[in-house]
Amino acid sequence: MAHCFVTRRLPGNAVQRLAAEHEVDVWREDRGPTRQELLERVREVEGFLPQLTERLDAELLEAAPHLRAVANYAVGYDNIDLPAATARGIAVGNTPGVLTEATADLAWSLLMSAARRLPEAEDDARTGVWGWEPDFLLGHDVHGATLGIVGMGRIGSAVARRASGFGVEVIHTSRSDAGVPLEELLRRSDFVSLHAPLTPQTRGMIGEPELRLMKETAVLVNTARGPLVHTDALVRALTDGWIAGAGVDVTDPEPLPADHPLLSCRGLAISPHIGSATHAAREGMADLAVDNLLAALRGERMPNCVNPEVYESTTRPAP
Ligand code: DGY
Repeated sequence: MAHCFVTRRLPGNAVQRLAAEHEVDVWREDRGPTRQELLERVREVEGFLPQLTERLDAELLEAAPHLRAVANYAVGYDNIDLPAATARGIAVGNTPGVLTEATADLAWSLLMSAARRLPEAEDDARTGVWGWEPDFLLGHDVHGATLGIVGMGRIGSAVARRASGFGVEVIHTSRSDAGVPLEELLRRSDFVSLHAPLTPQTRGMIGEPELRLMKETAVLVNTARGPLVHTDALVRALTDGWIAGAGVDVTDPEPLPADHPLLSCRGLAISPHIGSATHAAREGMADLAVDNLLAALRGERMPNCVNPEVYESTTRPAP
């Protein structure tokens, strides 16, 4: 029986499955654990189920000398120092697939919301501003537009599939197949939707030069990771009209301070990192994360392991 720490209450019955085999400590407060609380709680932990908001860096890994398996409650794992975990032989897992469609739905929601200026429209409707003037709240057409997808993985492909119903032409750029160069995609697209993982290569991939390549009528959508985009450049792009709008579920930093200039930008549709926030997706994520921990703690291969090199490593901690 291994000691496990789960840093939030999870939906569904996944944690009960974990508790049937292991001693499980679930953080039960409404707020998440502070950094100090995390450092203290991981001391005895062998199996760890963190959120993407918790940083598993070298310091935290060092504070957890017994750690054997990490099951991140997310498909992204940029919160984890993967080389440090791999060097220790700690298997790290993620939750791909189950949140793909939910996140693609949200990307389209933000795309349409920014295109048709729904945040402004909602404010107006709630404050009694109704206008039939010919130029009242004009937005941009979605149907017939060109959508540029940056990163044609699971979520990018799901966003692309939804385009045909709107008569939207899709172009894409991706690491693994031809697509079009990023510069061409930015020049040609009416909507640009980001679906790349956050890595040292993709951090800041959309800055001033890239935003200036986009059409003045274009909308940038980001449901991937905030640091893909230079926040200051995005503020200037919206303020100075280099682009028409942005629909973002992720920001840098996250959360944005209440007085952050991005929040006052015209053309912004924003949500607080809820891409996977549907009942089904979050239950599916809990199931996959627990499946990862159960397998690793039995000494088996994690079904969704992001550092499979650990299975070749001689430093892997014994079950
Ligand atoms: C992920 O899983 O990486 C999303 O950002 C949150 O669900």
